[in-house]
Formats: sequence, structure tokens, C-alpha cells
Amino acid sequence: MTQAPLYYIRFLKPPPIDCNVGQHFTIVWTIESDLGDQAFWEPVPVTCSLQGCTQLGLRIMNADPKGNNKKKVSAKPYQQEKSLPLTPDVPLVYDPLQGGGIVTKLVVEPLPGKVLPVGTTVSIQLSMILSPAARTTVTSHAIWQNAYMFASSIWLLPTWSVPMQTTVTKQRHFESESGDQAERILRVSKNKVIHIREDAVQSIARHVWDCGLGMCQFLAEQNIDPRYNVFLELGSGTGLVGIYAAELLKPKKVYLTDLADALEIMQQNVDLMENKNLDMVVKELSWGPEKQLEYKDVNLILLTDVLYNQSSHDLLLETLDWLLDNEEAKALLTYKERNHDEREFFTKVAKKGWRCDRVPSDDLICEVYWIGK
Ligand SMILES: C[S@@+](CC[C@H](N)C(=O)[O-])C[C@H]1O[C@@H](n2cnc3c(N)ncnc32)[C@H](O)[C@@H]1O
Repeated sequence: MTQAPLYYIRFLKPPPIDCNVGQHFTIVWTIESDLGDQAFWEPVPVTCSLQGCTQLGLRIMNADPKGNNKKKVSAKPYQQEKSLPLTPDVPLVYDPLQGGGIVTKLVVEPLPGKVLPVGTTVSIQLSMILSPAARTTVTSHAIWQNAYMFASSIWLLPTWSVPMQTTVTKQRHFESESGDQAERILRVSKNKVIHIREDAVQSIARHVWDCGLGMCQFLAEQNIDPRYNVFLELGSGTGLVGIYAAELLKPKKVYLTDLADALEIMQQNVDLMENKNLDMVVKELSWGPEKQLEYKDVNLILLTDVLYNQSSHDLLLETLDWLLDNEEAKALLTYKERNHDEREFFTKVAKKGWRCDRVPSDDLICEVYWIGK
């Protein structure tokens, strides 16, 4: 059986990172593929939950359930009397006909009978998860926290806002800016999860992708030989895979590398790691023939979703060439076909006389290969 496709709940406009209790704010969200090229095509019930403070609940303020039609919204402003009850979990519906995303206006307020003194600030998060009634799996995915299957076996990956500092004030109308990031959460072990931030705007490097999630699952389900103890991730993006591998396998050192554009978000995600004892290095590494001695001890090279641009294949192969000069080193690649021509990469690997062994991975979202000289 091939792994079911994966769709992502995504904030196009995340909630603010600072807000007041009683202040309205708007989120815009959607359900789409990793590349953002396919919006999900059917209505999906999603629960938006407030976490971090049991005194507070959420209320939806949309008067017009069709939400994002700008003309209608300005002609008929949101009306308090049409708002729904205050609860910790509000039911929302993803409507594929709402091009550009679902606009939801929300407010955080104290739950009935709960009082928070003026001046109190609490850190809350909003999660957006497939509603229980629509789930066709009882338990969440083992690694992708709170991801459930729905419809004809499609995985839906939830999202979390970044923590929102919410203050109880007398002032209700406070201008706050929307956040520009959201979080995904992955389970490393029974007692350990990692938090990975990604950008709300479309970007190649600053997002979580199917192959990265597939690699985390693969690493968790396989017994990776402990002699692999210095990892290098090429084209690391958010740092998801290198961070997950570090927390799971506790190697001596992990290098997370990418082009300059990704360095800030990689470092941000490293800074979010609870375990400060792991040796994590964030570095720019643009693929090419120039051998860099700093990486001479690397014995496991992690590659996820790096074949999408055929014009970079030769540069990537040149990098692998000098990294694999270390006889102990192997590369582990997860790959999902976006364009059949990308498979030329494997022909080039074969022409070099390198070993490239596909690992049976029918239960994964992607193909997995071990590559070595
Ligand atoms: C589709 S993203 C995948 C990111 C990450 N591996 C993941 O699966 O989440 C491809 C990554 O490769 C990086 N990349 C592309 N060309 C590169 C090059 N010539 N040198 C270094 N990194 C490159 C991009 O910046 C981007 O972060």
C-alpha cells in the first residue's frame, strides 16, 4: 500500500503574537499540499482550540459565514449578535470554494465564571486540527503530532500558532500586527516533541515539506546504525530533519546547512530546542565542487526534497562527491516525484558508479534511498 497523500492546514494570515483579551483579530487559513499547488477540494471540519490558559475561551465573530468575500464584509460588517458561544474549541469549516483562504474573525475572552485580573499576561496558542467527527483514524499519527486521516485516507497535518502573549486590559481596541509564522509539532518519543516554526508566506526553504516529514518517520521507525554520529543536512530549510535526527539519535554533532535565505529560520528552530547539550551548527553551504574540510568527519548526509530543481543536480552531486570521500559516509535521501525528469538524478548517480539502494518504504509519503561510493 502506498502512503496516503498529505495535506497541510496552513495559516495564510496567522494570529497576532500580542493581543488583549476582548480584542478581535482575524486569521486566514487554508488546506493545501506542501507545494501549495493543490488546494484541498472538499469541505473539511476543523477545530480551532485555545491552549495554554484554562480561564480563556474563543468566540467566532464572523457574521457572514461566507467570510472572505471582501465586498460582503464591508457592506455588512461583523456583528456581535451573530457571534457564536465562547468555548475553548471552536468548530470551523474549510470551504474549497473560498479561494484565497478562509477568513475567520476571533476574540479571546474569559470563560463564564472565570476571572483574570487586569494586568495579567498569559501565553496561549491556537491549534487547527481535523475535527474528531471527521477522523477515520482513532489515534494520531505516531510522529506527526495530532495528524489524523480523513475522507478516503488522506492525512491532514495540523498547525499551531506561535505563542500569543495575551493581556487582560481595560483597553479593548488595540492595534496588533498579525504574526508571520506558525508551528508544526513532531513526536520524537513518548515524552518528547519538537516544535518547528515555518513562515506563513510561500517560500521554498522556510516551510515544512512532505519528504522532511517522511524522513522523520523513517528515522523513527528504523534502527539507524549508531556508528553514524556526525550528521550533515544539505538544503535543510527549516532544520526539521536535522533537529529531529539530533533529538532522536543523539549524534556527536549535527550540521544544518542551506543557502543564506534559510539560516535565520534554521537558527530560530535550533534555539527552540529544549536540549541545549546537543551540538548543533547552522551554516551556509551552497552546493558545488569546493571541498570543505570542516565536514571531513561527517558520516551521515541527510537529503530531503532536494531534487525538485534539475539544474542543481550537478552541484548537489559535486557536493556529495567530496563528502562521500569519507569512506565511512553514506547519504540518506527521501524523495517525492514532482516531475518525472528529476529521476535523471538517479541515472547520474549510477553513471558515477556509486551505490544507490532504494529502501522499501510503502508506508511512507516518499521514496527512501541510501547512497554511497
Ligand atoms: C524543497 S526545500 C526542502 C527543505 C528541507 N530539506 C525539507 O525537506 O523540509 C529544498 C531546499 O534546498 C535548498 N537548496 C536548493 N538549492 C541549493 C543549493 N544550490 N545549495 C544549497 N541549498 C540549496 C533550498 O534553499 C531549500 O531549503
